[in-house]
Amino acid sequence: MAVKISPSILSADYLKLTDDIKALETAGVDWLHMDVMDGIFVPNLSFGVPLISSVKKHTRLPLDVHLMIDRPHRYIKQFAQVSDILGFHYEAGSDIASTLKEIRAYGCKSSLTIKPCTPPEKIFEFLPLCDMVLVMSVEPGFGGQTFMPQALEKLSALRSECQKRDLSVELEVDGGINGETAPLAVSAGATVLVAGSYIFSEQMKDRVKFLKQL
Ligand code: DX5
Ligand code: ZN
Repeated sequence: MAVKISPSILSADYLKLTDDIKALETAGVDWLHMDVMDGIFVPNLSFGVPLISSVKKHTRLPLDVHLMIDRPHRYIKQFAQVSDILGFHYEAGSDIASTLKEIRAYGCKSSLTIKPCTPPEKIFEFLPLCDMVLVMSVEPGFGGQTFMPQALEKLSALRSECQKRDLSVELEVDGGINGETAPLAVSAGATVLVAGSYIFSEQMKDRVKFLKQL
């Protein structure tokens, strides 16, 4: 199955977002990745439901929402209204199983995210409740950082565990994805690539094309 591409709009110019979204659609991306930051769980702020809701009006692409917020269970209902895939961090202080179930109950695909410091084994028990697992390959909070190769082992471990349990779970990787790191991540088992600074460039079309054939 072809790898899916989910560009992070954190790297876009928000005042010309509709142009950027059109360019991404033309380039053939699969989803749009929306990074929600609260300044507490991560040392940065980004945007919330209103921006995602506006994006939703301008595209048919599925919205892949990555919550980097403290105690995300407080906001699942609101974000579920504007998300297609909704994910939160294992480390963020919510009841994992009930939050994953709640996401599915609202009709979204559920995603559980782990930071670079979290071993993949910690989330094995939750895999039956996940439609996707997001492996962070940088510390969450900022675009434009360097890929941490430890993510590759984590992707492989998750891929093996899903195969062992006969579960069909997407494996997404986020942070520092570019022409060199993307092939490594796909070989390790990634099925969805998030990319911000690599895709938002003059070579958007060629870069999306390159990622899609991996
Ligand atoms: C970081 C975000 C990423 C980020 C990726 O916290 O989750 O989605 O925007 O940006 P690049 O691809 O530039 O590392
Ligand atoms: Zn992200």
